[in-house]
Amino acid sequence: MERTLIILKPDAVQRGLIGPIIARFERKGLQIVALKLTRLDSAVARQHYAMHEGKPFYDGLIQFISSGPVVVMVLQGNHVIETVRKMMGATSGFNAEPGTIRGDFGLSSSFNLIHGSDSPATARAEIARFFAPEELLDFPAASWPWVYAPGERP
Ligand code: RTP
Ligand code: MG
Repeated sequence: MERTLIILKPDAVQRGLIGPIIARFERKGLQIVALKLTRLDSAVARQHYAMHEGKPFYDGLIQFISSGPVVVMVLQGNHVIETVRKMMGATSGFNAEPGTIRGDFGLSSSFNLIHGSDSPATARAEIARFFAPEELLDFPAASWPWVYAPGERP
């Protein structure tokens, strides 16, 4: 099944939004297969956002993402990468549609609560950046028979 790497950014942790955001993923039927509270040092932050190096917001982004504890987790499910990106909403909380995480919980274009991988190749690289293989738990979720119809089941 497809997997994606999520980061609940320092603003989500400081604002007490870990629970409300994770609850949305659980209610959706997505499965958590790895989860930890940690801190990104500047080297890991630079590696994670290397594609944005040189952009005007890059230095501020590195400062922000390494400014406090974050939650990193791996979610699993059919089409999970696209599903989570839709649930996150547009990059800026101001533009993000109501009903999305950024649209419901934020107003900023840089303090935007959550990161989610944007492609299968990115997801593989990002999962490996934050988790050792043995930290990823492969188990059948009790909810699967009711989340997925027979033909869709893992
Ligand atoms: P992410 O990579 O964190 O999942 O977010 P994203 O794909 O929606 O947005 P992206 O364009 O990849 O930008 C990465 C992060 O940089 C910060 N940002 N600030 N001030 C600004 O104009 C600006 N633009 C981007 C945000 O934290 C964004 O999530
Ligand atoms: Mg991005």
